[in-house]
Amino acid sequence: MKKAFLLASLFLILMVILTLKQSKAPEWGNYQTEYFTEQTSKLQFELGTISDAEEQMRIQAEIASYQNRKPEIVNLVLPNGEVERCQTCHLGLEEISDSHPSNTLGCAVCHGGNPRSLDKTTAHAQMYGGGHPGSLDAASLSCGGTGPNGAACHSGNHELAKNQVDTVKTSIMSTKAGELSVVRRIFGLDKTSEVPGLSKGEGAFVYPNPLQGRPNEEIFQQSCLSQCHQSGGDLLLAANNPLLATAEQETSKGSTSLSNQKGVANGNVLGNGCEACHVLTNPTHTYIGNDTTIKENQSGRGMVHRLTTQIPYTQCNQCHNQGTHDPIQMKFTARPDIDKVTLDWQAGDLTWTDRVRDYYLPGELFARCEVSLDCIDCHTGLDTMGDGELYTSQHEAVHIQCLDCHGTKDQPPLTKKLESQEDLALQMQKQVTNPKFPTLKMGDEILVTSKGEALPFLRHEGEAWNLSSRVTGKTFKIPLVIGSECEQNPEDQGADSCHKCHDRTAENP
Ligand code: HEC
Ligand code: HEC
Ligand code: HEC
Ligand code: HEC
Ligand code: HEC
Ligand code: HEC
Ligand code: HEC
Repeated sequence: MKKAFLLASLFLILMVILTLKQSKAPEWGNYQTEYFTEQTSKLQFELGTISDAEEQMRIQAEIASYQNRKPEIVNLVLPNGEVERCQTCHLGLEEISDSHPSNTLGCAVCHGGNPRSLDKTTAHAQMYGGGHPGSLDAASLSCGGTGPNGAACHSGNHELAKNQVDTVKTSIMSTKAGELSVVRRIFGLDKTSEVPGLSKGEGAFVYPNPLQGRPNEEIFQQSCLSQCHQSGGDLLLAANNPLLATAEQETSKGSTSLSNQKGVANGNVLGNGCEACHVLTNPTHTYIGNDTTIKENQSGRGMVHRLTTQIPYTQCNQCHNQGTHDPIQMKFTARPDIDKVTLDWQAGDLTWTDRVRDYYLPGELFARCEVSLDCIDCHTGLDTMGDGELYTSQHEAVHIQCLDCHGTKDQPPLTKKLESQEDLALQMQKQVTNPKFPTLKMGDEILVTSKGEALPFLRHEGEAWNLSSRVTGKTFKIPLVIGSECEQNPEDQGADSCHKCHDRTAENP
């Protein structure tokens, strides 16, 4: 009895000490203090570069406010009354996007977890996709879920084009069905591009016996089919990225584990579904934002907590245009100038000539616009996010054609006039993140592909045919074939036929 009493009191004392200790220096307080210190030193640096007296006063006041700020619990109260406290630790985190404001949507709608908890482990328990809510195995709960106001997000809508979670999952970039089909044909297993038994949305990497037991089958599965797809494949760039190898070595401080050796695929840098395109990355895939909980040298993250539809070609080139694939040896060889391409990544390409050297593989042919424009200026929503169909060939999956912008010798491009507020193009324009995007109004005439997809960033205005880039905001005049000296064969509209005459290369720009 006495013993039990003694134990109980000991336990009580211990609890009191623990509680005291916690209330003295809670974990979240440290993150906030670190955040205040970081902001202070940033502002102090800025102060040193400014000579305007009024501006100096303003910054000094801001510095003082950070210095005097005490850590406190952040209770975010959502319109539906729910309380979220994630920002208590993640105080410096950026707003994810203007169409997902944190004060009405909160964090749990995308991340799951336990938003009332102030304990890291409990708060993070059952988060969707860990740090990656956009990964395709989590996207139905996060991006495809229901908002606090009860509205369906990016799944469960009447229009297919709004159900990105469903279409992206089945798109060829997620399944890699095209690669499976091409290689099977090379090995003589199939006569057409159809792959027997492959069902819609099934990843080629789980297709059983893709080469029917031929010697290279395992390498094919591991080194080809499992790489570079959006449903969680390793990104190629990561595997070949000299910068990334350095960042990794710093993180592990001399560890000799395989994943830290230069040139070896880093298991952490994956194609995470929606994030692969909508969260911009730097070459090391490291976070450079203001959230002090996130380590700077840990790879596998976007640059900042920000979703965008201004997707530059470099983002697509995490997987595309990085090197050559040899389907017989089952080998990928990085392009010889990959180091330069990686280093140029952040510097930005200023001129067309700069751009052409980094954009496509050396030796490839293209027209000028295939370099001056970004991939998404041509490749539309249905091209990039799929149209819900099962394709086993890239050629069949692509929606855009040269003639959709340039027309032919006897026809200008197809257009349509916006005549109803319900028009998808008018509804969707609020999701364009480029502030320079020219507002679309009723009565405007926009281009339409021959497959029927509206291209609201391409317009027929008076005599002019204009494209406004959703990446840079620049406007380009589209030259038409009709009325030009073009010598094309009207029957032959494939890009290869155009490239015979309209042939620029990096060597001969
Ligand atoms: C619209 C969906 C969405 C909302 C709302 C959202 N996040 Fe995120 N969050 C993401 C995505 C997508 C990523 C992955 C980014 C990446 O690839 O690095 C992410 C990543 C993170 C990360 C890891 C750091 C990083 O940027 O990679 C943290 C921490 C985080 N979110 C916390 C929060 C908190 C706290 C809130 C609420 C204030 C919040 N998120 C709201 C989508 C969202
Ligand atoms: C007690 C502090 C704390 C709270 C509360 C907290 N986090 Fe975190 N979070 C962290 C820390 C620290 C990290 C850095 C990774 C780690 O140490 O696990 C992190 C990492 C993350 C990541 C990246 C995870 C990864 O592995 O890539 C996401 C996403 C995230 N938090 C979201 C949230 C959300 C959403 C909430 C609220 C439901 C939340 N956090 C509440 C401290 C916290
Ligand atoms: C995570 C890797 C990854 C990223 C990032 C990526 N792609 Fe792809 N993409 C692929 C793979 C893999 C294929 C080929 C699949 C096959 O042939 O089986 C492909 C095929 C395509 C195709 C041909 C088929 C189709 O769907 O029309 C186009 C066009 C395309 N990608 C454009 C883009 C654009 C534009 C971007 C950037 C906005 C991009 N990709 C980003 C992996 C990626
Ligand atoms: C291969 C790159 C790529 C991937 C992966 C991707 N998107 Fe997109 N997304 C785009 C492009 C490009 C646009 C602008 C396209 C357009 O509609 O013309 C876009 C636009 C959007 C828009 C704005 C509406 C619109 O159509 O313009 C939403 C919402 C969206 N994506 C959601 C998602 C979701 C959710 C996922 C994951 C399930 C996802 N995206 C995956 C490339 C991608
Ligand atoms: C000027 C417009 C334009 C730009 C810019 C552009 N593409 Fe394309 N792309 C096309 C057209 C048109 C086709 C269809 C070609 C055809 O007729 O066979 C195509 C085809 C493709 C294909 C399928 C290959 C095939 O055999 O059909 C892939 C993959 C692709 N593009 C990826 C990209 C990526 C990645 C980028 C950016 C790095 C990009 N494209 C930039 C217009 C463009
Ligand atoms: C999304 C619309 C779009 C698509 C698709 C497109 N172009 Fe263009 N094209 C343009 C624009 C805009 C310009 C003007 C570009 C500039 O000023 O750099 C242009 C310019 C050109 C020119 C004149 C410049 C030169 O090369 O001398 C040719 C030729 C051309 N495109 C051929 C093609 C071919 C071939 C394809 C298919 C592979 C194609 N275009 C697909 C929009 C497009
Ligand atoms: C046999 C050679 C040849 C073929 C094939 C060809 N073109 Fe042309 N194209 C020309 C010539 C020559 C001109 C006029 C000179 C110029 O403006 O570059 C021209 C002009 C153009 C222009 C107008 C350029 C401007 O600046 O006004 C466009 C657009 C164009 N071609 C697109 C195409 C497309 C798209 C294809 C494929 C369907 C194609 N061409 C196939 C030779 C060809």
